[in-house]
Amino acid sequence: MDTWESLKNECLACRGCALADTRRNVVFGDGATHAEIMLIGEGPGQHEDEQGIPFVGRAGELLDDMLAMIHLDRTKVYIANTVKCRPPQNRDPMNVEQAACIGWLNRQRSLLQPKIIVCLGRIAAKEIIKEDFKITQEHGQWFERQGVAMTAVYHPAALLRDVNKRPETFEDLKSIQSRVRALCEHTDL
Ligand code: URA
Repeated sequence: MDTWESLKNECLACRGCALADTRRNVVFGDGATHAEIMLIGEGPGQHEDEQGIPFVGRAGELLDDMLAMIHLDRTKVYIANTVKCRPPQNRDPMNVEQAACIGWLNRQRSLLQPKIIVCLGRIAAKEIIKEDFKITQEHGQWFERQGVAMTAVYHPAALLRDVNKRPETFEDLKSIQSRVRALCEHTDL
């Protein structure tokens, strides 16, 4: 049986794929280990790789602002990525890397037992919700998997590139807020 500490220590030593050769730090996760809400991103970028913490670059600042709009912050959510090590030049993670890494995320999910999962962007939504997820059509929709309510929003990096996506994302955030109010007992919004 995992504990957060044993799982993290094991993960920090992982050499399960070639990303281990180029990473500076394994980016295990951040936030509250008792949170009812789990956010899942794609994979670490440069700043995350340097600091070992998810979403600390510009996209991370925007993510913090998005959370603040619905009165959430990192003390009320847990944030992790589908891959824990930075893909060089910020390329998309390869299937083989995702396959090698998914076990860590699954074990984090088992420990956390979140009520709500929010996928940040297409890559996470495809891996967590369904393989053929279409982010432009299906962001903000709700899916249920093994009793967990799941949705996806545009990745904050996409919102930095294209501000026209922000109004739709604000609607998605409001939908997340009402799901949190309905499903989460310990998260005051
Ligand atoms: N983008 C991600 O998907 N994850 C991070 O941790 C940072 C940027």
